[in-house]
Amino acid sequence: MNVLVIGSGGREHALVWKLAQSPRIGRIFATPGNPGIFTRAEPFPAGTADLEKLAAEARSRDIGLTVVGPEQPLAEGIVDVFRAAGLPVFGPTRAAAELEWSKAFAKDFMTRHGIPTASYRTFRAGEEEAARAYVASANAPLVVKADGLAAGKGVLLCRTPGEALRAVADIAQAFGRAGSTFVVEEYMEGKEASVFAVCDGKDFATLAPAQDHKRALDGDRGPNTGGMGAYAPAPCVTPAIMDEVRATIIRPTLEGMSREGRPYTGCLYVGLMLTAEGPRVVEYNCRFGDPETQVVLPLYGGDLLDLLEASARGTIASLPPRRPGPGAAVCVVLASGGYPGKYETGKRISGLPAGDTEGRVIYFHAGTRREADGSIATAGGRVLGVTAMEPAHDIAAAIAAAYRAAAGITFEGIHYRHDIGKGALA
Ligand code: AMP
Ligand code: GLY
Repeated sequence: MNVLVIGSGGREHALVWKLAQSPRIGRIFATPGNPGIFTRAEPFPAGTADLEKLAAEARSRDIGLTVVGPEQPLAEGIVDVFRAAGLPVFGPTRAAAELEWSKAFAKDFMTRHGIPTASYRTFRAGEEEAARAYVASANAPLVVKADGLAAGKGVLLCRTPGEALRAVADIAQAFGRAGSTFVVEEYMEGKEASVFAVCDGKDFATLAPAQDHKRALDGDRGPNTGGMGAYAPAPCVTPAIMDEVRATIIRPTLEGMSREGRPYTGCLYVGLMLTAEGPRVVEYNCRFGDPETQVVLPLYGGDLLDLLEASARGTIASLPPRRPGPGAAVCVVLASGGYPGKYETGKRISGLPAGDTEGRVIYFHAGTRREADGSIATAGGRVLGVTAMEPAHDIAAAIAAAYRAAAGITFEGIHYRHDIGKGALA
């Protein structure tokens, strides 16, 4: 079967890397792709700027499944367009993706269906007075969030009521339309973890729980980023907690979405806080997480094409049940100097192998480009995700292997965290 993968990050490289292992895979196409992805996939002559044209090209190239990586095309309705054209596609419809593109919708949805999350109030532009009163009546610390997609930058953690009042004043201004509605919520204490459920509207299959490292610097200091590294499985998500997450969060989410006429298909990303009262939802995303996908997929023991196709076709119940296998994976993100703030691009990268894999290390590309002379240069904030796999549950060995491989890569301004995975050892 020919497959088209939409996106250009480390997540999409990981999807392509895993899909390529399926015995049923035919040609793999990618758009926009990156040099790492193009070691295994062919460029596709259309992009997401014109979804109708993209669907027409997919039909003419006999694409049996289109896999959508990022949230933006999902929020723009790529799945609706492909389905209307009769083309199998992995991802949620625009209506189902509202779980990610509107935090207010997601919070109200959780309230309607009794799904555990932080207590909150939603406000619209012009209701700053009411928001100030709410802040005064609630207990700090609080979290103020812009409603719409804000590339991970729409969340302000406020330690004091004063900080929360300032955040309320700032957010409408800073985020324009994305901030014209905002949520003020209770701060939850606990460990964070990411759980991915591949859903077909009725049934789902969960992948290994992962932990992301959102802050830029060691010791969880510095500004928030898209994610500086990840490991899986996250030992804090014990099998018992995983069962609780399935029963109290994932199952009610699927049932609630069906009942509300927007059945959820694709990857449901549940951002969890493991609180003293049990697992609670920090956020939903409507796609695989990045960099978590770079550690979760290498550990998946099944055929990813089978799984994603079953999600698109509504046949997850007929897949053989899969117990989590042994193994551990650690991904260290190599970033451009200055990221997540301003950074330069075009720095030549040395130390990369010719392919994307060397032994049990995979070099997932994110912000890279191929120069005219064939060399690889930096082209974004998060440049590479260096992932090491261990066949046993040995996270310490995976950490050591990932850092040995990372040390072999150089480019001007390179920076990365040195404590990825440490939380799993404690
Ligand atoms: P979000 O975009 O909603 O995932 O928020 C980004 C990050 O902010 C999360 O990964 C958490 O680390 C933190 N965060 C968001 N909401 C809360 C909350 N209610 N309590 C504690 N931390 C939070
Ligand atoms: N790693 C966080 C995200 O993908 O949203």
